[in-house]
Amino acid sequence: MQGLKIVLIGYGKMGHVIEKIAQARGHQIVLTIDRGEEALFDDPRFASADVAIEFTAPAMAFDNCLRAIERGIPVVSGTTGWTDRQPELRARCEAGEGTVFWSSNFSIGVNLFLQINRRVAALMQAAPNYHLSMDETHHIHKLDAPSGTAITLAEAILSERPELTGWELSEEPHTGLLPITAHREGEVPGIHTVTYTSEVDRIVLTHEAFGRQGFALGAVLAAEFAHTHQGWLTMDDMLQLG
Ligand SMILES: NC(=O)c1ccc[n+]([C@@H]2O[C@H](COP(=O)([O-])OP(=O)(O)OC[C@H]3O[C@@H](n4cnc5c(N)ncnc54)[C@H](OP(=O)(O)O)[C@@H]3O)[C@@H](O)[C@H]2O)c1
Repeated sequence: MQGLKIVLIGYGKMGHVIEKIAQARGHQIVLTIDRGEEALFDDPRFASADVAIEFTAPAMAFDNCLRAIERGIPVVSGTTGWTDRQPELRARCEAGEGTVFWSSNFSIGVNLFLQINRRVAALMQAAPNYHLSMDETHHIHKLDAPSGTAITLAEAILSERPELTGWELSEEPHTGLLPITAHREGEVPGIHTVTYTSEVDRIVLTHEAFGRQGFALGAVLAAEFAHTHQGWLTMDDMLQLG
């Protein structure tokens, strides 16, 4: 693929890693927009971009994505914690008004982990004596809990477990709900664990990210995909793992 002109909306921890990976893949960062720099959405460099990549904060993501699609620029967003605002954006994209590629986790490994968990959840239907729980650990700077990835993982598992009606952030599980516990420690990039416990044994599935590179590479691959596809896009569309 020919090098893309990319705008980074949010130039924090993820923005910096994405910049390095995008450049290594032959793309050009034409502009970065950080907090308080909203005027740059009307900069000619924004209009010249092929795609924007947005990693900011839950309260800002919706407006940032909207600004991009209103200016005809496809946007890849990895910001978590704003799923309540996404249906509106999705509807606009599905009506042909723009392109948004959102994922709670752009790591290819995590998306494989999601599919593994979907299949294990279906298999474990035959073993109702195993109690299911989920645990996630992230760095202390993370604003949302449980993580967006934990919620996506829970939704994937719940789709295979009709006897469970939802998930809850709780150490004390209620019947019919999938309990999720969240921990915030040091600079941990992200650990997600799904556990099935019976009276006699335990089955544990864990994904552990070693750094931010896996998320950043996935976001750049998503930007390349969003350049050639339209509408509301997801990792399922790009990876076709299902
Ligand atoms: N989907 C994935 O694969 C994935 C992976 C990792 C992280 N994430 C998510 O990505 C988001 C960002 O993570 P991060 O670790 O990069 O956080 P971060 O280091 O805090 O970076 C966020 C950056 O966005 C800036 N910002 C805040 N409001 C903005 C606005 N209105 N417009 C433009 N920029 C703004 C922040 O500026 P200030 O510092 O001034 O606030 C900061 O530079 C979080 O929601 C996180 O959960 C997703």
